[in-house]
Amino acid sequence: MTKPATHNQTRHWQELDAAHHIHPFTETAALNKKGVRIITKAKGVYIWDSDGNRLIDGMSGLWCVNVGYGREELAEAGYKALKELPYYNAFFQTTHPYVTELAAKLAALLPKGMTRVLFANSGSEANDTAIKLIRYYWNLMGKPAKKIHISREYAYHGVTMGAASLSGLTPMQTQWDLPLPGFEKVPTVYWYGFGGNQDPNEYGLAVAKKLEEKILELGPENVASFSAEPIHGAGGLMLPPDSYWPEVQRICRKYDVLIHLDEVITGFGRTGRWFGADLYGIEPDIMSMAKGMSSGYQPIAAIGLGHRVGEAIATANEELVTGFTWSGHPVAAAVSLRNLEILEREKLVERVHADIGPYFQSKIRELAKHPLVGEVRGVGLLGAIELMDDKASRKFFDRRIDVGTQCRNHCFANGLVMRAIRDTMVLAPPFIISKNEIDEIINLAWRCFDLTARDLGKSTG
Ligand SMILES: Cc1ncc(COP(=O)(O)O)c(C=O)c1O
Repeated sequence: MTKPATHNQTRHWQELDAAHHIHPFTETAALNKKGVRIITKAKGVYIWDSDGNRLIDGMSGLWCVNVGYGREELAEAGYKALKELPYYNAFFQTTHPYVTELAAKLAALLPKGMTRVLFANSGSEANDTAIKLIRYYWNLMGKPAKKIHISREYAYHGVTMGAASLSGLTPMQTQWDLPLPGFEKVPTVYWYGFGGNQDPNEYGLAVAKKLEEKILELGPENVASFSAEPIHGAGGLMLPPDSYWPEVQRICRKYDVLIHLDEVITGFGRTGRWFGADLYGIEPDIMSMAKGMSSGYQPIAAIGLGHRVGEAIATANEELVTGFTWSGHPVAAAVSLRNLEILEREKLVERVHADIGPYFQSKIRELAKHPLVGEVRGVGLLGAIELMDDKASRKFFDRRIDVGTQCRNHCFANGLVMRAIRDTMVLAPPFIISKNEIDEIINLAWRCFDLTARDLGKSTG
């Protein structure tokens, strides 16, 4: 660590950062003028900044630190692997125990029929790899025309060229002249925002129908896959009505379109089920996972292959020409394995399903009494709270006011990490959070909604 010359440590790091570090998803000039926030340590559900301020992390980092911060045994698992086998790869007819054991463990946990996996290092890489494997599958099947990938508006699938093309958040594409050719979008399923007075299940069916219309417009013989998160995450935490997924699945099967499920957020227990596929009864042909796979302690991701894709690839008599230097890195695999062991041993998925998840859901719904709050929705340890200009008439704020960011800033200043997606405030706390800690989040959120309402000249709760 470098030492400050004349002034305090925080200022010193801020200066170094401003001079040398370009941040992801950040307006660099504005940040540098203001000075970056520096997080120096974390334990349980709390993080601390370089000035010693404690914040409760309602977002598990970026929806990933599911077993909570400061787990000694994950550090030990990583340390042991670092000493024994700091690196080896799975290229050239080789493997190592960590990645082999992890592949088998995943096969036991993944949805039925998904018995084979490939490894990557991030959700974006997993999605890029999934796109390649889908293309390859149709080539193997003698249907090379099937190359169009359909996904949804508001989807977030990552930032690499393919994953960003799959994403449906337009700001992610304009700077880079994306999407690439062959990526098509259908409307998202967001009842509170777009469903109007329609019954949610009727709305769900109507949105699913748009997928069928798109497939027919493009020609089923040209459509390779439909990609979606079981629940929209970074696009605004939108949950599908019950009617949506069964109908989407029926349509994909009818036109022989592969279902690619992006479980990067929903995977490994976040919804109270091991996977979003289990929650909605989806049988994916291919699945991407990352984040909760190691609870964020190491960068690791995987692509699960459903039966037909897995068999086709495993029995193709040629080299599969893809893979990363770090695919299935021993240290990351060791930490991931131990993380899965913790989830099972401490029954954390069951806890999210039957105990802390229901408590969290009932507490966030109390926030709906606040005058600024419209719909509150969620499942497991995922929660979204919509800030509304007028909740009675379901009027959203003018986007230019950026109420969500104002509220998020109040949250940071008051010791709470809550994410703003447009004016939807989002929570996804670690699975080990206690009821008292949830109460702390709710009290802080209420206070920050009051402060935001006051800034807007509106009544407070
Ligand atoms: C659903 C989903 N897919 C993919 C990604 C991309 O993952 P990564 O940031 O690890 O590349 C994310 C990241 O938030 C995500 O939420």
